[in-house]
Amino acid sequence: MDLLINQNLFIIITILLSSSFSMGLGNEIQNLGQYPLVVSTWPFVEAVRAAWRAVDNGLSAVDSVVEGCSACEELRCDGTVGPGGSPDENGETTIDALVMDGTTMEVGAVAAMRYVKDGIRAARLVMQHTQHTLIVGEKASNFVISMGLPGPTNLSSPESTAKWVKWKDNGCQPNFWKNVLPANSCGPYHPRKLPSFVEGTCSRGSVGGIPSTSSHIDLQNHDTISMAVIDHMGHIAVGTSTNGATFKIPGRVGDGPIAGSSAYADTEVGACGATGDGDIMMRFLPCYQVVESMRLGMEPKLAAEDAIMRITRKYPNFVGAIFAVDKNGVHAGACHGWIFQYSVRSPVMEDVQVFTVLP
Ligand SMILES: *[C@@H]1O[C@H](CO)[C@@H](O)[C@H](O)[C@H]1NC(C)=O
Repeated sequence: MDLLINQNLFIIITILLSSSFSMGLGNEIQNLGQYPLVVSTWPFVEAVRAAWRAVDNGLSAVDSVVEGCSACEELRCDGTVGPGGSPDENGETTIDALVMDGTTMEVGAVAAMRYVKDGIRAARLVMQHTQHTLIVGEKASNFVISMGLPGPTNLSSPESTAKWVKWKDNGCQPNFWKNVLPANSCGPYHPRKLPSFVEGTCSRGSVGGIPSTSSHIDLQNHDTISMAVIDHMGHIAVGTSTNGATFKIPGRVGDGPIAGSSAYADTEVGACGATGDGDIMMRFLPCYQVVESMRLGMEPKLAAEDAIMRITRKYPNFVGAIFAVDKNGVHAGACHGWIFQYSVRSPVMEDVQVFTVLP
């Protein structure tokens, strides 16, 4: 009798606890133990569907995240992922991509890769067939072509070429140079002599042109697919793919292929994906921060907000966003400087749902 009452009490308390817990979570979905799960930056719905089909059919988290990001590359999501997107100063499109296995902590990545359109598959080749983590430039192209990926391919498209011609006609403005001459036209550039400050009279942010703003980073010229997948086993993987910033200085590598910055996963804890001004974000490793905060017990929402705040404290004009998902599938987003959307597919959803996060 006692035992029965205790059991009933236990059930009632459990129900009470779990319902108040979900209410407290706001727009986060309580998805305890209900794998698989796919989360991605932006309303890249088709990419999430592709990853979902893969993981629902029993593929691993790594292979599913590759299927998802690959779909984005083929669809050229927002014109900034895959071939034919964001040209650099020379009009060339290059690819940055990363994949991370949150169970083994293995990472594979390519950066500034030329002539090959399959960024995320290239990243997986680095992870699965080398002891390295990151291979760059034309050497990365040679490696992945030797391992069977199609190429060399012309990554320019009529759109990326037209965009670049227009930018050249506009005096190569805006661009990513600072403290150079000429200031308002195309290069070649040379360093502008900086005034030397006497200690104590240094005024930050004016003459020296110090703090970088994100004024020319926006949806059109910079974003990344960053995706997390939890598979049937509860294993977590993340992947990213991007062309990097439009009109970047050739050779520039942003946060996309940097583990801990654009994405991070640990099957014991959860995962994170980031997008935005990668040149700033990669100085803070925000996704590493998010996962480590969650490891210490922080809710995904707080962990994401905290990681954003660590950046805005130093760069108040920074533009970027983060999603966080814990190993139980509780997800949340945080952003600064723009409205952020991320997409989710879980077993309790009929189709992909898009969540909107306000700064
Ligand atoms: C690559 O494609 C672009 C746009 O379609 C074109 O303008 C360019 O000439 C091509 N480059 C080469 C080397 O074929």
